[in-house]
Amino acid sequence: MAEAEIQSGEKEFFLDIPQQNETFFLKGSANYDWGMKNRLARIFNPRSGKTVMLAFDHGYFQGPTTGLERIDVTIVPLAPFADALMLTRGILRSVIPAASGNPIVMRASGGPSILKELSNEHLVIDMDDAVRMNCSAVAVQVFIGGEYETQSVGNMTRLVDAGMKVGIPVLGVTAVGKELVRDAKYMGLATRMCAELGAAVVKTYFCPDFEKVAAGCPVPLVIAGGKKLPELEALKMAADAIAQGASGVDMGRNIFQSDAPVAMLKAVRKVVHEAMNYKQAYEYFLELKNQKNG
Ligand code: R5P
Repeated sequence: MAEAEIQSGEKEFFLDIPQQNETFFLKGSANYDWGMKNRLARIFNPRSGKTVMLAFDHGYFQGPTTGLERIDVTIVPLAPFADALMLTRGILRSVIPAASGNPIVMRASGGPSILKELSNEHLVIDMDDAVRMNCSAVAVQVFIGGEYETQSVGNMTRLVDAGMKVGIPVLGVTAVGKELVRDAKYMGLATRMCAELGAAVVKTYFCPDFEKVAAGCPVPLVIAGGKKLPELEALKMAADAIAQGASGVDMGRNIFQSDAPVAMLKAVRKVVHEAMNYKQAYEYFLELKNQKNG
């Protein structure tokens, strides 16, 4: 049978079509292995090149944060509207349905509570467990200028080495303390250090001259939302960040502390994935919110 097939001469090898070498859509990410790229392409939408991550890992150092008292009640219903979930392994295993299709960005550093020196973090999960939980990325806080700066950088580089062995990218999270200024000079230093030392993605805060921070960081930047703002201001911040080079948001309180979280998440998606003007996105938010209340 096999011999007859070989002799038939009917196979089609498309000899006039050269095989294409695909480029990878994400900034600075072309030289990773297939598994790493595939995980990044689960977090970042390959069509828009952007992501809307929902961050609700705050309890890892501050306990039951407002809006996160019952993650099963308030956050699980938001999951279908997020591109990725950023959380701790305790919450993943205790609350998030295993059938949820969201890529997981796992918080991998911690230790001190809000009662102690926050920069004194250690790695809190082993890469084997990240693999077991099917994580798409692991996240580590880096405290540039903090008391335990070097230790936190060491946490990140150890995690990068472990992640490289299994194809799991590391999200370096630039921490800001009370004593640290949130300006482009500081954010430029912190984000660049994370990228130089191996983070595949860096999370930071929006600041004046953000375009210089984004341009100086050779890997994708996502912004945290920070403390709760009025929705119009939060949408403007997200829109400005995207316009100035961010590859998405990793937003928590500005979504789950909104009085219409699903509407806010959908409005943020418009800004991030469709570059919608923030005023239009705010109108969209109000429309969805009123539909819910109507
Ligand atoms: C804080 O350390 C956590 O990593 C949060 O994930 C991060 O701050 C983003 O949340 P938010 O938008 O509430 O600032």
